[in-house]
Amino acid sequence: MSGELSPIDTAKFVAAKRAVQYVEDGMKVGLGTGSTAAWMVRCLGERIRTEGLKITGVPTSTRTADLARQVGIEVTTLDDAKWLDLTIDGTDEYDPDLCLIKGGGGAHLQEKIVATASDRMVVIADPTKAVDMLGAFPLPIEVIPFGVNATKGLVEELLTAMDVLGTEAVLREKGGEPFVTDEGNQIIDLHLKRIDDPRKLSMVLNQVPGVVENGLFIDICDAVVIGHGDGRVEVIDINEGTHEEDRIAFADSDNIFADI
Ligand code: A5P
Repeated sequence: MSGELSPIDTAKFVAAKRAVQYVEDGMKVGLGTGSTAAWMVRCLGERIRTEGLKITGVPTSTRTADLARQVGIEVTTLDDAKWLDLTIDGTDEYDPDLCLIKGGGGAHLQEKIVATASDRMVVIADPTKAVDMLGAFPLPIEVIPFGVNATKGLVEELLTAMDVLGTEAVLREKGGEPFVTDEGNQIIDLHLKRIDDPRKLSMVLNQVPGVVENGLFIDICDAVVIGHGDGRVEVIDINEGTHEEDRIAFADSDNIFADI
């Protein structure tokens, strides 16, 4: 069955399969959003079914909550869980310091709150997500709908004074209407091309009235698991200063392929 997966899906799957090895019985786990995170949720469901693993999951979107329940993960809210042992999530970009751009799926606000309320954040990625400098992927900012054009104008103005290559700001749309997040907000995507000082940019953006949160994750990610289309996985741990390589064997009987 695994032979039917494309190399990119295989890469996402093996990254997810390796990352769920960090999950132990009794843990409270933040569940990320996106296509890679969806593999991780399925892999956790498989461990629950086959090993009787007992965990509580805190999803970062309604999409992830729906999938988690489908695969048998007990779901709760962050307020009920209070603090998490681990969050596993995907990313749109990661740099050599494991700083991230997230929010391509529009869920970075909840993702950032959940990851920050966790002892540890492990990111799962395929090799296309690695960059030397952040910014090729448009940086999402979540903004409240009130005065969205004024907020956009202020953000564009401040970008001219920042160390970035591009300054275009685009209100995200879906079906011809503004995209609406799980929190009822909207998203402006910043086409910056290159971000020289992500730390400074993150602080400056969040000072603009109307901006709820930006998609830069600075000093939040502890490790990245990079999957490859041939089943290899690399694990980079920023705290340990290690870079290890492993290989994931995937059996044809893996139940998680059943719904693909
Ligand atoms: C969701 O808002 C995002 O932060 C995703 O985690 C990110 O876009 C990665 O998604 P994929 O795994 O689908 O590339």
